[in-house]
Amino acid sequence: MIVIKSIREMQSISESARKSNRIIGFVPTMGYFHDGHLSLMKIARPKCDLLVVSIFVNPIQFGVNEDFSKYPRDIKRDKELCESVNVDIVFIPNECEIFPPDFSTKVEIAGRVTECLCSAFRPGHFSGVATIVAKLFNIIKPHFSVFGQKDAQQLVVIKKMVKELNSPVEIVAGATVREQDGLAMSSRNEYLTPEHRQVAPVLYKSLLRAKDLLILGQKDTSVIISEIRKFIDSNGPFKIQYIEILNADTLESIASAKGKIIIALAAFLGKTRLIDNIVVEL
Ligand code: PAF
Repeated sequence: MIVIKSIREMQSISESARKSNRIIGFVPTMGYFHDGHLSLMKIARPKCDLLVVSIFVNPIQFGVNEDFSKYPRDIKRDKELCESVNVDIVFIPNECEIFPPDFSTKVEIAGRVTECLCSAFRPGHFSGVATIVAKLFNIIKPHFSVFGQKDAQQLVVIKKMVKELNSPVEIVAGATVREQDGLAMSSRNEYLTPEHRQVAPVLYKSLLRAKDLLILGQKDTSVIISEIRKFIDSNGPFKIQYIEILNADTLESIASAKGKIIIALAAFLGKTRLIDNIVVEL
């Protein structure tokens, strides 16, 4: 495994890999790995000849009052974990090289996919994500890239960007990896106090209860949303940001559940913001 910091060097390795018909797989990350990240690398590994993982805490996807400066980092451990799953290249670019002082390009994905879920609470977030992902795709030139279903809206936004910009990158989704008690793995779980960590799985439980209601025949999404809300409110000190039931591919709102739907939510426990979702096929 090698570690590359320079954009030029990364580009030239990718160019020669492509010339010799080697398949490049790519997992973009912000580091501080947990099993969720490793599962994305394990999905990519058998599908490619050159597996590249980037570690870059992207400043432009954090809002002014968000956790950019305290976002957890442990590059030494991350490199060891990459090695353990046979990553070929860890790309750790410098912030100044990625975003020089005069940098001014923005990738904006407009429309429904950035008008729902997290968008209202994290203005500019998806533009920040799309901009860095577009840059990383240009540098690494992957044939495919793996993104976690945990960040469901990000996945839909990136799929739309790739389609509309005709980027020759296949987007592969990796299932959400959960702790034994159901809490979706996230680097931000680190922020939870022991008391909050204990109640955090209530969010996933609420999604499973909603799925049961759907399977039992309840189609009215407003009824299901209000059941989820009641369950969460009565089982912990959560501050709910949103609970939405949408078409899983387009993120259009739906009044009556049918087809492939996503039930997604975001809530604060203290200062920690948690998101989770499940996809249900009806
Ligand atoms: O999902 C993440 O960790 C980030 O949003 C990503 C895709 C690495 C872009 O910074």
